[in-house]
Parts: sequence; C-alpha cells; structure tokens
Amino acid sequence: MTKKAFIFDLDGVIVDTAKYHFLAWKKLANSIGVDFTEVQNEQLKGVSRVKSLEKILTWGKKSISEEEFMELMSLKNDDYLSYINKMNENEILPDVAKILDYLNDMNQHIALGSASKNARMILQKVNLLNKFDVIVDGNDVTKAKPNPEVFLKAATLLHCNPKDCIVFEDSLAGIKAANIASMVSIGIGDKETLKKADYVFNDFTEIDTDFLNELIKEKRT
Ligand code: BG6
Ligand code: MG
Repeated sequence: MTKKAFIFDLDGVIVDTAKYHFLAWKKLANSIGVDFTEVQNEQLKGVSRVKSLEKILTWGKKSISEEEFMELMSLKNDDYLSYINKMNENEILPDVAKILDYLNDMNQHIALGSASKNARMILQKVNLLNKFDVIVDGNDVTKAKPNPEVFLKAATLLHCNPKDCIVFEDSLAGIKAANIASMVSIGIGDKETLKKADYVFNDFTEIDTDFLNELIKEKRT
C-alpha cells in the first residue's frame, strides 16, 4: 500500500497560538493608533507576518517607511515570542499527540506545513519536534497560502504524490492551498468558514481511527 503523507498546519491546528498572535498584533496596532479587533484577527489566520502588518496598516490607513515597517515587524515578533517562551506540552490541542502517534504507528509520513517562521521553536517548546519527518515553514517558502508552495514542498521532500497527501488546516487560505494542490483537505474549526474543505471537524477529538484508516487506504486517481 502507498504510504500517505499527513501534513499538519501549526498555528490553530497543533497549538492555539492564534491568541498570542492576537495579543501581540493588538498591542502593536494600538501603539501606532490603530484599532484591532478579534474579527480582524480572524483574517490574519494563515497569513504571513509581512502580509499581516500590511493589512493592519491598510485598515488603519497608515503609511510608513520601509525602515519603520521592519521595526514594527520585529517589535511584534519580540512580543509574540515572550508568550511562546512560556509554552509547554500542556498547550498542545486535544488529541493531537494521540493522532500523531497513531499515524506514526501506522507507518505513515508526517509533515509540518506552516507559514510561521517560529515553527521549529514552537514545536520544540511543546516537545513535538521529533514527531515530524519533514518540516516546511515560513523560512522555506516565498509564496504565502493560498499558494500551495508550502504543501507541495513537503510532498516533494517526502517523495509523495500530492494525491497521496492529506492536509489538516484551520484557515481558509490553507484549505484553498490544499485544494489547489489536489490534496485531501481537512478543516479543523468552524464548518461555515471552512466549507471548502473535503471534511471539517471542530477539533481532533472528533477524528477516530476508522476515519484515519480510510484515509490511509483510500486510492485517489
Ligand atoms: C501562521 C499564522 O501560521 O503564521 C499567522 O496563522 C502568522 O497568524 C503566520 O502571521 C506567520 O507567523 P510568524 O510566527 O512567522 O510571525
Ligand atoms: Mg493555522
């Protein structure tokens, strides 16, 4: 049987770091006199650091120099890292570790496909770094989701056909990327937001081994 590749997004799938991104972006936006709400934060999910700041500046109708832009990005990241530094295994989302172990027991490929440049550090903090055969993160790609580059790169590194890849994502941009890549897309989160996914679950506690076995066995042409 062909070995499948299970590709996991990080933020919002493995760990709930969206709340830390929110706090850091809000502090930064407010410091330059721009309002920032949880609704706006939703639109930054899966979006790169550069694109996120561009959106905040557009919402606030602010125009700044290239130098200030770089400075603000670095301030945001320093603040974000102050939360990340306190993370531990307790912040792994429910049943994620169990599913990673099951897929490993079933001899499947496991990859990370994340837009974050802090991905390795976060995986290390929550002690999951050694669970992944391949890690593709924000340092390895030039095109942000919904461009499928991040997932296709993981497939290439694993010598897997995209049709034999299954992507877990919490963002619409990520689901679109998986669909464009002809991979199976599994949304983790709100059914309405993620309706373009092949399957949607609220969280990993809703995913059982029968479902995983079907994905492992499925032949896609
Ligand atoms: C994504 C997050 O995974 O990574 C985004 O959903 C974030 O909110 C992006 O902006 C980049 O993350 P980082 O850690 O490189 O700033
Ligand atoms: Mg995400």
